Amino acid sequence: MKDALERLLFPGGQPSWAQPDLQSLNRLPPRATLVSFPSPEAAATFDRSATPWHRSLDGTWDFKLADRPASAPAALRLARGWDPVAVPSLWTMLGYDQPQYTNVQMPFADRPPHVPEANPTGIYHRRFAVPRAWRGRRVVLGFGGVEGVLHVVVNGEPVGISKDARTPAEFDVTNVVRHDGKNELVAVVVRWSDSSFIEDQDQWWHAGISREVYLRAGRIDDIFVTAGLDDRYRDGTLTVTGEAEGPLAARLFDPRGREVLAARLPVATEIRAPQQWSAEDPALYTLVVSLDDGESVACRVGFRRVEIRDRQLLVNGKAILVCGVNRHEHDDVHGRVISRESMETDVKLMKQHNVNAVRTSHYPDDPYWLDLCDRYGLYVVDEANVESHAYYDQICQDMRYTRGFVERVQNMAERDKNHPSIILWSLGNESGYGANHDAAAGWLRRRDPSRPLHYEGAIRGNWPGGRGATDIVCPMYPEIADIEAYAQRKDDPRPIILCEYSHAMGNSNGSLADYFAAFERHDALQGGFIWEWIDHGIRQTDDRGRSYWAYGGDFGEERHDANFCADGIVWPDRTPHPALNELKFLSQPVRVEPVDLARGRFRILNRQVFVDLSELRGSWESTADGRVTRRGALPRLKVAPGKTLDVELDLGDVSGDVSDAAERFVTFRFFRRRATEWAPAGHEVAWQQFALARPIRRVAHGRGVRPTEGRRAIVLEAQGVRAAIDRKTGLLAELSRGDRRALLDGPRLQLWRAATDNDGLRLLPERRSGVLARWLELGLDRMVLRLDDIRPSRGGVEVVHRASGRRQYDDAIHRQRYRLLASGDLLVENEVQISPELRDLPRVGVLFELPAGLERLEWLGLGPWENYPDRQASAVVGRFQSTVAEQYVPYILPQEHGHRGQVRRLSLTDDSGFGIEVLGQPTFGFTASHLTSGDLYGALHTSDLEPRPEVFLSLDHAQRGLGTASCGPDTLPRYQLNASSYRFSYVVRVRG
Ligand code: GAL
Ligand code: MG
Repeated sequence: MKDALERLLFPGGQPSWAQPDLQSLNRLPPRATLVSFPSPEAAATFDRSATPWHRSLDGTWDFKLADRPASAPAALRLARGWDPVAVPSLWTMLGYDQPQYTNVQMPFADRPPHVPEANPTGIYHRRFAVPRAWRGRRVVLGFGGVEGVLHVVVNGEPVGISKDARTPAEFDVTNVVRHDGKNELVAVVVRWSDSSFIEDQDQWWHAGISREVYLRAGRIDDIFVTAGLDDRYRDGTLTVTGEAEGPLAARLFDPRGREVLAARLPVATEIRAPQQWSAEDPALYTLVVSLDDGESVACRVGFRRVEIRDRQLLVNGKAILVCGVNRHEHDDVHGRVISRESMETDVKLMKQHNVNAVRTSHYPDDPYWLDLCDRYGLYVVDEANVESHAYYDQICQDMRYTRGFVERVQNMAERDKNHPSIILWSLGNESGYGANHDAAAGWLRRRDPSRPLHYEGAIRGNWPGGRGATDIVCPMYPEIADIEAYAQRKDDPRPIILCEYSHAMGNSNGSLADYFAAFERHDALQGGFIWEWIDHGIRQTDDRGRSYWAYGGDFGEERHDANFCADGIVWPDRTPHPALNELKFLSQPVRVEPVDLARGRFRILNRQVFVDLSELRGSWESTADGRVTRRGALPRLKVAPGKTLDVELDLGDVSGDVSDAAERFVTFRFFRRRATEWAPAGHEVAWQQFALARPIRRVAHGRGVRPTEGRRAIVLEAQGVRAAIDRKTGLLAELSRGDRRALLDGPRLQLWRAATDNDGLRLLPERRSGVLARWLELGLDRMVLRLDDIRPSRGGVEVVHRASGRRQYDDAIHRQRYRLLASGDLLVENEVQISPELRDLPRVGVLFELPAGLERLEWLGLGPWENYPDRQASAVVGRFQSTVAEQYVPYILPQEHGHRGQVRRLSLTDDSGFGIEVLGQPTFGFTASHLTSGDLYGALHTSDLEPRPEVFLSLDHAQRGLGTASCGPDTLPRYQLNASSYRFSYVVRVRG
């Protein structure tokens, strides 16, 4: 007779892992996440250690890995070869087998439903006890999530099979467990299966038991709560149904713990004027449902109503703006095993950055995440674990997979139905649009009419279509012009919410402000979800002991999609990318509008739709050339949602003030008055800056000193400053005062930047996305300068260089005129002519190499964080101090970073104060680094970079915007460098 495992592995004689219509065997119907407690009071604590009816089986298990499912039974019988491993954990992160990253393509060549013969199969084993007190009760064994096909054997008996990796697999084991303390559990997980084809999300492929394993013996199976609002959005509507081994009674407590309802189930009733749940004010009630003997379960309840009316998604009758992110589950050490602390970090970071919504791309998350979203206030699009990207149009029509689609939607909806934070159900991601979707949608609409549906595949390529499967027009990566045009169409009743946009890969999120501006112009455009929250780097250590984040290909895989998984707006350790500041600024709950700048009159707008601004306090500060001149507090912000408050600031005389030629700004800042769960008191929520007096162009004046002609150089001297321009190179061979040199090399024409992921996917060149391929063909990365002419002129030196990466020397012509003014300031005037072929350049500017030690950096310009022409809404003009080393931004694939725009002046000095100062005419952009563009572009990981002692100062007259062409629209034309010539000048001053 075959053993239990063999029977499970080959149900009906066929491999379990190649039967798409077998989604599970003996799996109990899905249910809400509920834990039974012995009393209503205990249930209301939600503290699992306070119940005898739930036991975690997490901990150390025995593990071994077989090379294929068929060898698992023999491996299981063998006494040798077991290793202790933690559960939950993924064996791909423990050195068995390996993780593999692919986007669209499957990790293997086989076609559905077939998978490779070599199919790693994990065998888990542990013993467990069942409490004596559970005798006579139904005992359920549950797995919160398992990556791969789960086969469960208990005490030698086959128990069941489950495939959906992201929802609990629960099995009734009452008849196979013993209450004498000796039970044996075997869980066999087959890595690849027919289900891999519908779990083809763009992420690392892992395998193992990724969420908690438990036993439960509760007698309450499920409850379903719907807490809505009446048509006046005033009174609450509440229905509660339940399933249990006896009659159930419910009690509802308001957020302050007062009982507002006691009733027998089922109940359908009204609750007078309840506090309403919203992301802005997540008021939670507690529902306790009990059997007559006191056994109880509890869940949080939020009264809120979601509907679509007049092309808008309304929450509690109000149109919301979705300032959302897509969040995958990722941990750089544990893979997709996510700790509670990590989820708490995420939710706090999101709230601190004014994020108000999250799409659980692309599967139901650990249920604790939803508890946090309920509690902290985030609108959730809960997505079913379905993605058949590699067989986009086929599997959604394939009847063998209908069950897979429908069950996954059911598993999600049944588990998560009671969470108030979920405002939309998503049928999955990138799986085409077929009958399997309509089947799932039909089931879901009937089961939960309280939430609209979301599914991008239904409108892909045909925005007016797909109405059976999506109530939202939810495109990904659209052009701004297209969503604006669609928002004006009258023939679609659905709002537009971008399920993905602004691809945060590397140095990215260009034009985020342009998207937000479009959202505000059209009621039907209600925001969207940034792609994505976390960079999926896996922490590794190189042979020199340096740690770095690995991506596709780093584990020796042949099929992979390189660094396309490193596209989050926070690094894997949750450090924010600079771009997160931009999202925070654009999503801020309060905005200031100028009314009459000259009189210091401003209007403060509460952008929220549910709460007033009384949790905030505001202050302002005015500056002249970056120095604070005045500051003050704003009056109390009793501003109702959507309303404004006018304020008048005493700015002094701001109308003219030309006399001191100072450039003046006023900056508002808003802080939380009190601590919340997600931020301390004083946390900065919002800010905004206004220019008061118009910037005054500061042009360096005066005649230049007469040059002296040396044999090797033409020399300019004034005030102890000596500038020598080399006759051979046309570069500054020397810029010094006394015996101290302030410069090693330059200024050299610079048109190249270490390409960003949006410029082009350099590790995936076959995709030819972005402009990079063209830049490389033109040789911008290897431009050679040739001196064409150098001559003294009246009061200066004129130099002409020709530059090309193709040895033609006519791609760009750079004319420079150096004038050393009597003050000792070196004025450099530039003209750059660009050949038509070269247009649409990365940057136009010059590069200086400065001596080691000029480490202290100070600038007056946009900051404090990295900014680019199309990502600078959040930056303010100020005086900032930093160091060159601190300018480094560790994008996972090294690339251009650290730019600061609209800079009036900067200085780079050593500890003694010696160095250089650069003054704009009127402004420039810069990056200061210990790395060259070549260093960055040549590196694959941060650990490959060897910072040099010298300082590389790039002065940019212009930089191309960032755009998001790594997946989505390229940089908008207005942020491209398409001109045929550029003129700019700057002043260099030797300091100290
Ligand atoms: C979308 C997809 C995401 C991710 C993204 C690119 O097409 O839904 O899962 O692949 O593109 O990073
Ligand atoms: Mg995909």
